[in-house]
Amino acid sequence: MGIEDLSMRNGGAVSDHWADNVVVRPRTTEEHITVHKRLVLAFAISILTLIVVTAIAVMLGVRFEKCSSVTERDVVPDSGGNQSRDGNSEHKVEESEPWRHSRLPATLHPRHYDLQLSVHMDNYTFSGKVSIEFQCINATKFIVLHADRLDVKKVAVYSDSKKTGALRIHRHFHYAPNQVYVITLHREMKPLRTYKINITFEAQIENELLGFFRSSYILHSEKRYLAVTQFSPTHARKAFPCFDEPIYKATFVVRLRHDALYQSLSNMPIEASSLDEDGWVNNHFFRTPRMSTYYLAWAICNFTYQEVITDSGVVIRLYARPDAIQSGSGDYALQITKRLLNFYQHYFKVKYSLPKLVLVAHISRKSS
Ligand SMILES: *[C@@H]1O[C@H](CO)[C@@H](O)[C@H](O)[C@H]1NC(C)=O
Ligand SMILES: *[C@@H]1O[C@H](CO)[C@@H](O)[C@H](O)[C@H]1NC(C)=O
Ligand SMILES: *[C@@H]1O[C@H](CO)[C@@H](O)[C@H](O)[C@H]1NC(C)=O
Ligand SMILES: *[C@@H]1O[C@H](CO)[C@@H](O)[C@H](O)[C@H]1NC(C)=O
Ligand SMILES: *[C@@H]1O[C@H](CO)[C@@H](O)[C@H](O)[C@H]1NC(C)=O
Repeated sequence: MGIEDLSMRNGGAVSDHWADNVVVRPRTTEEHITVHKRLVLAFAISILTLIVVTAIAVMLGVRFEKCSSVTERDVVPDSGGNQSRDGNSEHKVEESEPWRHSRLPATLHPRHYDLQLSVHMDNYTFSGKVSIEFQCINATKFIVLHADRLDVKKVAVYSDSKKTGALRIHRHFHYAPNQVYVITLHREMKPLRTYKINITFEAQIENELLGFFRSSYILHSEKRYLAVTQFSPTHARKAFPCFDEPIYKATFVVRLRHDALYQSLSNMPIEASSLDEDGWVNNHFFRTPRMSTYYLAWAICNFTYQEVITDSGVVIRLYARPDAIQSGSGDYALQITKRLLNFYQHYFKVKYSLPKLVLVAHISRKSS
C-alpha cells in the first residue's frame, strides 16, 4: 500500500508540474509574442548547432578513417604486435591469439569433467588426468583453458563423432600472464559438435591456502597432514586444467587415489571404492550436478566425523581432528549448519541439490 500511495502521489505531482509548464497562460498579447520570438530563436540556434556539430563530426570522421587505415597498415605485418596499444590492432591480436585476452574466448562450452588424481602425501605432489567433454559453439582452431602452476605432460583432442578421430595438434603451450593453457589445432573444430580433450599433469600440493593445498595439525604430539581444496574464486585452475569462469557450468566425476592410511572426501558420496595391490585406495565419487568449477572440493585427511540429518534428509557431516570431535567442538558448527540449511530451504523454497553437505574443519578450527 505504501508503494502505491507514493506512486500515486508522485504521479499527481508530476502531472501538476507538467500542467504548470505546458499550459501557457498569456496575460497580454505582447508577452505571448516574446515567448514566440524566443522559441523561434532557440529553434534556429539549435539547428545551427546541429549543422556545426555534424560538420565537425564529418571532418573528424574522415581524419579517423585516415588514421586507422594508416595504423592498420603499420600494425598488420607485425603479428606479435605487443608494443601496439591501438584499439583496432588489439582486437586483431585477440582474434588471432585469443589467449592474450583476459577472459576465455566463449567459443567452447565444457559439459563434463572426468578427473582422476593420485595424491602423494609423502612428497606433497599429485598427478592427474582430466578428460573434458566440451561443445564447440563457434568454429575455432584454439582451445584455451585455465591452468596455473600445473606441469602439463600430455594433451590429446578427440572428436566425439568419429571414434578414432584424434585431432592433430599444431602446438600447445602455457601462457602464464593469463594463467591459461593453449592448444592450437591444424584444423578448425565445427560448431555444435562435441569434442574431448585429455590432459595429464603433475603439480605440488602447496603450503598455501589456495587451490589444492596442505595443512597440518598436531595430534598426540605428532604432526599430521591433510590436503584440501580452496577453489573460490579462481583457484580450481591450480588443481586441474579447466574453464575456470563461473559461467562455464558442467558436471564432474572425481576419482581420488591415495595411501590407505588416509580417507578422501568430495562433494558427492563415494560410488565405488577399491584397493590396489600396493595398498592404495581408489575412491570414485558420484557425478555432481551441473555447477561452476569453484564449487568443486575434495580433501585427503585422517579425520573422524560426526553427522546430523536435516528435516529434509540431507546428511551434514563435519570432519575434524579426532580430538576436536571427541571434545565436542564440532557440535556447534553442525547445529548451526543444520539450522541454516533448513532456513534457506524454507526461505528460498528450493531443496539443497546435493545429498550431503560436508564440512571440513582445519587450521585452528577455521572451517571451509
Ligand atoms: C614484446 O616483444 C619483444 C620483441 O618483439 C619481446 O622481447 C618482449 O618479450 C615482448 N613482450 C611481451 C610481453 O610479450
Ligand atoms: C612423489 O612420490 C611418488 C611415489 O610415491 C613418485 O612417483 C613421484 O615422482 C614423487 N614426486 C616427486 C616430485 O618426487
Ligand atoms: C581420455 O580420458 C578418458 C577418461 O580418463 C578415457 O576413458 C579415454 O579412454 C581417454 N581417451 C583416450 C583416447 O585416451
Ligand atoms: C558464435 O555463435 C553464436 C551462436 O551460434 C552466435 O550467436 C555468435 O554470433 C557467434 N559469434 C561469433 C563471433 O561468430
Ligand atoms: C591416522 O589416524 C590413526 C588413528 O589416529 C593413526 O593410527 C594413523 O597413523 C594415522 N595415519 C596417518 C597417515 O597419519
